[in-house]
Amino acid sequence: MIKTAVIIGVGPIEGLGGYLCTHAANKGLHVVIAGRTLRSIKTVRDAIRGNGGEATAVVADATDESQIKQLVNEAEAIGPIDLAIYNAGNNFPGNFLEMQASYFESAWRVCTLGGFLFAREVIKAMIERKSGTLLFTGASASMRGRPDFAAFTAGKAGLRALAQSLAREFQPQGIHIGHVVIDGGIAGEKIISKYPEFVERAGEDGLVGLGGIAEAYMYLYKQPRNAWTHELDLRTFKENF
Ligand SMILES: NC(=O)c1ccc[n+]([C@@H]2O[C@H](COP(=O)([O-])OP(=O)(O)OC[C@H]3O[C@@H](n4cnc5c(N)ncnc54)[C@H](OP(=O)(O)O)[C@@H]3O)[C@@H](O)[C@H]2O)c1
Repeated sequence: MIKTAVIIGVGPIEGLGGYLCTHAANKGLHVVIAGRTLRSIKTVRDAIRGNGGEATAVVADATDESQIKQLVNEAEAIGPIDLAIYNAGNNFPGNFLEMQASYFESAWRVCTLGGFLFAREVIKAMIERKSGTLLFTGASASMRGRPDFAAFTAGKAGLRALAQSLAREFQPQGIHIGHVVIDGGIAGEKIISKYPEFVERAGEDGLVGLGGIAEAYMYLYKQPRNAWTHELDLRTFKENF
């Protein structure tokens, strides 16, 4: 029976979610592609199928408990989930003194609560088999706060803490839990189309490359259980840190 990868937080094909899906398909997994925008996830699905891989697109909001339960059930019905990735977590910048509580809460919902909902359902499925890999996407904000990023930092740091807790609880039960800190802007469609001046300033190889990031996730996925990494950090050679 084919195994599945379920990846939530997928947008454009030239984005991290899109790359994670195509790389997981290259590992022979049936990829269940989840995101809020049907058009985007269908494009990723069609690209994988066009390349001879297997994929299903499912519309799901990471913050909606019943949709996450449904997503995990659908993936398990196709095949046992062997790889699960929580990639949702758009940036939430904002002036702190003018910030509405609802905005702060919405950052927490996507960056942290969604990770909890997804992890709980995925681990319930994996635990009976005592195997599987669950990975979370982090950012610079997972490690350090800075002005105008209080909401995003609180959410991403919460996700990192969640991942650590889950690693200590569930790795002894055979489930590999990983957290990937992407320290810097990603060379994906979002930044390239929305922030051309930023891209220009960053210069050649000034943004973190999609291919390298996706390979790092697959490296974690393929590690033998007697040599697991919990956290990786990735940045371009130019980054000051
Ligand atoms: N972009 C960067 O420079 C950068 C840098 C460091 C870390 N990261 C992290 O990398 C991850 C990917 O971000 P990305 O900006 O590069 O985008 P991406 O992987 O290309 O796409 C992520 C997609 O997640 C979807 N999404 C957002 N909220 C969601 C929700 N509640 N439920 C389901 N799907 C949701 C969005 O699609 P819709 O908008 O269509 O819903 C978005 O297109 C995030 O966790 C981010 O924090 C990004």
